[in-house]
Amino acid sequence: MGKTIIISNRLPVKVKENNGNYELSASEGGLATGLGTIYKQDGNIWIGWPGVTVDEPAHQEQIANKLHDLSLVPVYLTQEEYNEYYEGFSNTVLWPVFHYYASTYTTYKPSNWDYYRSVNHKFRDVVLEHAQPGDTIWIHDYQLLLLPALIRQQLPDVTIGFFLHIPFPSQEMFRLIPWRMELLKGMLGADLVGFHTFDDVRHFLSSVSRIMPMQVSSNTITCDERIVVAEAYPMGIDEQKYASLTQEPEVQHQAEQIKLVFKDVNLILSIDRLDYSKGILHRLQAFELLLKENPEYVGKVALYMVVVPSRDQVPQYMELHNQIDKKVGNINAMYRTMDWTPIHYYYRSVPIETLSALYSTADVALVTPMRDGMNLVCKEYVASRTNNDGVLILSEMAGASRELIDALIVNPNNVIQVRDAIIQAVNMPLQEQQTRMKQLRHAVSKFNISHWVNLFMSGLSETKFLQRAMQTR
Ligand code: G6P
Repeated sequence: MGKTIIISNRLPVKVKENNGNYELSASEGGLATGLGTIYKQDGNIWIGWPGVTVDEPAHQEQIANKLHDLSLVPVYLTQEEYNEYYEGFSNTVLWPVFHYYASTYTTYKPSNWDYYRSVNHKFRDVVLEHAQPGDTIWIHDYQLLLLPALIRQQLPDVTIGFFLHIPFPSQEMFRLIPWRMELLKGMLGADLVGFHTFDDVRHFLSSVSRIMPMQVSSNTITCDERIVVAEAYPMGIDEQKYASLTQEPEVQHQAEQIKLVFKDVNLILSIDRLDYSKGILHRLQAFELLLKENPEYVGKVALYMVVVPSRDQVPQYMELHNQIDKKVGNINAMYRTMDWTPIHYYYRSVPIETLSALYSTADVALVTPMRDGMNLVCKEYVASRTNNDGVLILSEMAGASRELIDALIVNPNNVIQVRDAIIQAVNMPLQEQQTRMKQLRHAVSKFNISHWVNLFMSGLSETKFLQRAMQTR
């Protein structure tokens, strides 16, 4: 049995610098939790960027040594690579196109593409230092679309799984990218290509059959006499972790404080990374519409909005940050009273205890992305509702809406519908809340993160088995 190598752009750690000394702390991300059981086992490793740009070899070595103890292997990026591969091609080409923002936000700079290719080669070189033919390699997300084929060229028989955490766009969108064929070829180096939803699978297969073109039958692609399978694996969360967090004394203490501050209002929660795909401005419009057209809710509802800083050197993100600040300022200036503030806005990341306290006290969670591969915030809210109350308002554009059908499902572009859903949510009888929440909790716990990992891994073994059976025919 070979080992398993996980690869993602970002390693599951946070690195902090303090006068040339680097401290590591574990990241709370869903992927880190889910794959923790795998990469921490004997001999397995996780390869990725530690999230800091460090040029000094002595500092790189110091970080690498600390990472080594955690079974993590760094790939360092230079400042140019960070600018062109990460901020450039990954987040100014692939991210907007895959989230259907191509015409507004994408520039197709050839230098971005050159760096994207060279950084994918850089990742390949680190992988090759560690990989053996019998290993299983699991590559994650849009930053590394070329990596499966680059590894396949060097290790033809190795097992490679690839999972895309963001939506795969329709062929009409995807074809806009000048390097579309190279990207597909890269992905097809994998044996199994996983997506969150069947729609993503369908879009991917239609791009392969039209752009390559290659023979596609059902969800199987024949690529250089090798078969590649595309399949949907909706990602889950560690629901028990979120349920038991609510019992921690620190969480309960913070929850009591939140309840005290918001004792006379319905608390609506909004938590996202700063991103235009999250629909934050539309959400604010819906909330503003509520205050404007339904004055009976003035003083009776409050929006607790956490925006976690992200990619804030990318111009589109800076602009969005300013727009959100302005919009929140306008709404608060227009509607606040001496003893009530409509929007409690935080632009920062929050500790997991605060997150849990917010999840467990908010009467309503408003999760309305314009487009989202899956969205785990809504699942975390549901997992934290151990009393089976609370209402989830969820965008139909989030992958999670396929599973969480007992939420109030809305089109985030329809601000009137979102406003109406808020009204429905704050007035929902407890019994209906409980009926819906029980169903939601059932879905979240049945299809949790370990189920996702196991399903993907068995899909990968089955694909290998199928390939061997075809070869011996
Ligand atoms: C999304 C992507 C991940 C990415 C994360 C945070 O969830 O699918 O690949 O790591 O956002 O973004 P960042 O650019 O900070 O890594």
